[in-house]
Amino acid sequence: MKRTRHALVIGGTGMLAGVCLYLAREDFSVSVIGRTLSKFKRLQDESRPNSIFPLLTDYDTDYVYDYINEAIKERGPFDLILSWTPNYSALERICEMNQGETSFRLFHVKGSRRYFEDEPIGIPSLCQYRKIYLGFVMEENGSRWLTHDEIANGVIKQIETDETVRIIGKIHPYEARPK
Ligand SMILES: NC(=O)c1ccc[n+]([C@@H]2O[C@H](COP(=O)([O-])OP(=O)(O)OC[C@H]3O[C@@H](n4cnc5c(N)ncnc54)[C@H](OP(=O)(O)O)[C@@H]3O)[C@@H](O)[C@H]2O)c1
Repeated sequence: MKRTRHALVIGGTGMLAGVCLYLAREDFSVSVIGRTLSKFKRLQDESRPNSIFPLLTDYDTDYVYDYINEAIKERGPFDLILSWTPNYSALERICEMNQGETSFRLFHVKGSRRYFEDEPIGIPSLCQYRKIYLGFVMEENGSRWLTHDEIANGVIKQIETDETVRIIGKIHPYEARPK
């Protein structure tokens, strides 16, 4: 029998909640990292039973690696990792822990500033690295940041098209971003 695909969403109870629900609808088991139990409620209320698995931990502490180990042990290695964390060293270590015999995809969500200045990140050989930059929207009377729906829909689109880089909204001219 084919194994159920396993996704990890780091910081998945906020603007990426819609992507967690999409992955659950696509029949992934979705392990989600976040610190607040109540924020998992919407995810669990709106998804099929046994599709969302809260990893209730802070990704800035070493406990996160125990949760990752446990999730891999219970549901297998991650086929897809979606990350919204500024903690690149934790993300590197999680990807390293997931390194096995098969390839996996990492969708790395970044703010617009990182389009111009970013920290380096080490990616293991079996990881297919995809970048998503969150830009802004120009309107008649200025500009605004993206809504949760715009962010979630843009990420879902990239998961489906599997492009290497996506910008959601606009990044140029950077001076026009909301202040
Ligand atoms: N370009 C744009 O338009 C743009 C870019 C970035 C953000 N935004 C907006 O700004 C708002 C706030 O952004 P946000 O960064 O707070 O995103 P968010 O997606 O609303 O929240 C961050 C997510 O990460 C989790 N998280 C945060 N720190 C954590 C930690 N140390 N350990 C484990 N989990 C952690 C949060 O849950 P817990 O707090 O429960 O841990 C939550 O799931 C967003 O709602 C979005 O609309 C817009």
